[in-house]
Amino acid sequence: MKFNKRTHTCGELREDNIDQHVVLNGWVDTRRDLGGVIFIDLRDRYGITQVVFEPTFNQSAHEIGKDLRSEYVISIEGKVRRRPAGTENPSIPTGFVDVMVEKVVILNKSLTPPFQIKDKLDVHEDIRLKYRYLDLRRKEMQDNIILRHKMYQSARSYLGANDFIEIETPVLMKSTPEGARDFLVPSRLHRGRFYALPQSPQQYKQLLMVSGFDRYFQIVKCFRDEDLRADRQPEFTQIDLEMSFVDSEDVYEMMEGLMKRLFKDIKGYDLQVPLPRLTFDEAMEKYGSDKPDLRFDLEMVTLNEIFEETEFKVFKDTLNNNGIITGLLAAGCGDYTRNQLDVLTDFVKKLGAGGLIWMRVKEDGLEAPIAKFLSDNEKSELKRKLNASAGDLIFILSGPRLKALSIMGSLRLEMAKRMNLIGDNIEPKLVWITDFPLLEWDDETHRYYAMHHPFTSPNLEDLELLSDDPGKVKARAYDLVYNGNEIAGGSIRIHDAKLQGKMFDALGISNEEAETKFGFLMNAFKYGAPPHGGIAFGFDRLAMLFANQDSIREVIAFPKTSSGMSLMDESPSIVDESQLKELHIKIK
Ligand code: AMO
Repeated sequence: MKFNKRTHTCGELREDNIDQHVVLNGWVDTRRDLGGVIFIDLRDRYGITQVVFEPTFNQSAHEIGKDLRSEYVISIEGKVRRRPAGTENPSIPTGFVDVMVEKVVILNKSLTPPFQIKDKLDVHEDIRLKYRYLDLRRKEMQDNIILRHKMYQSARSYLGANDFIEIETPVLMKSTPEGARDFLVPSRLHRGRFYALPQSPQQYKQLLMVSGFDRYFQIVKCFRDEDLRADRQPEFTQIDLEMSFVDSEDVYEMMEGLMKRLFKDIKGYDLQVPLPRLTFDEAMEKYGSDKPDLRFDLEMVTLNEIFEETEFKVFKDTLNNNGIITGLLAAGCGDYTRNQLDVLTDFVKKLGAGGLIWMRVKEDGLEAPIAKFLSDNEKSELKRKLNASAGDLIFILSGPRLKALSIMGSLRLEMAKRMNLIGDNIEPKLVWITDFPLLEWDDETHRYYAMHHPFTSPNLEDLELLSDDPGKVKARAYDLVYNGNEIAGGSIRIHDAKLQGKMFDALGISNEEAETKFGFLMNAFKYGAPPHGGIAFGFDRLAMLFANQDSIREVIAFPKTSSGMSLMDESPSIVDESQLKELHIKIK
């Protein structure tokens, strides 16, 4: 079909263009037929321009104008004019002009779309995902995707300028579990063998340090077969980096530079660096989370000291079992009804707490079901330590340390919502979390797991503990947290084969298992591995936060649902018997 190519985009025309002859190509956004005169809002990714079909101006164009419907793709030609006084639309940049159509060509018709192409859409997300190509026509989505594009550019430019080299690593690799479940790819040529999709390029980037590349980065897809949430996808993107001859401080400084640059380029915001830091232990005790939301204070307080001599059995047992008693003050919430308190009790019970202790602070003391079990001294100490005054509400949880702290952390977030503590506070709050435990004990399998991954270096002062008391060893690992979201994680690595062996011992990984799984990395370390460390940013999460969205699906062009489905192409899907046969696979 012959059509004239555009002279301008739909976001371009201004009063300067008045009287010019122009050609626009785009989609019919809306069509209004005002008894004879037809107005069309013509849309492309640059904006919207009003074009006008007037029978007295051009009869044949007007005839075709009558047939136009939403989402038709058209090409129009005509003359730019100043909109008649009173009909301007100052809310869009092209709103002072429109185009009087002389010629129109329908480039393609469209079925009536399943939803309107407009922002603030009220339709189930599944429909949006099934027709993602239409969803992506909406300005909101285009803005998100373009923001993402700008982030790639900005990150690449910063890292390039800082001597980082972009290197691609394989997508078909050896299965080397890093924490999540692998996605496997069966080999046709090697019967019974599988590739795995990388959970991250972790080992490759370490090998690149052995090769001497010194500073590596990659904006890379990672694959993890894990339970999905709003901030998790089975395939997601990382800005992955690694540096040689560095310690944690160098990584912090370089990454603070990257964040400062991204904030400036994407949000026009001057991020103050260095960023604050909290150790894992501090973060857990004060905020009940290793990804604390610091947009509001509402700090938890450890109360163990107060109850050292207590007669109250629950607390006594907790202390005897090395547990923790943690308190939270909800200022001004002393008027919470029994019903409201029951709802909050259910909330913590669902998270695994035995119950929730609450106390209303009154002028003359504490009003609470457990008040009678506490001594006067305990009560007054409690008020003092929590800085409580009449009208406030106190919550207490006790139990095994990390469990009680993280449940209280969830209650902290819930109360912040109820008390509207975030409000309009739009200052971004970033914080490094440092000094993570190296290992995590798993009660079910009765063994330790690497909290970050098995290549993370223990704190050098803690090396002795690795064989004696592994649970106490801290790691040279760090996370970066932004408004309560973990946006990056990394560590200084073990670069010494001997120490790596000790780490495998602590993880209960036998020599043979280590050899089969990680032999290539261990071998490489025998040929002069430099000290190295790095980090990876969850690119989608960062884009989500920059775009003020609640789900990473909003910033991914073609995401999966929370059950890992792609509703548009209906994958995962059934494949031909012949394909399975080639891969030596039988479905039971
Ligand atoms: P980690 O596993 O902490 O570290 O991942 C780095 C960051 O990636 C993001 N992320 C995810 N985003 C979306 N969907 C997911 N399923 C998902 N999983 C993780 C998070 C996280 O902080 N190789 C190490 C990095 C290193 O040590 O250098 C790694 O992958 O924002």
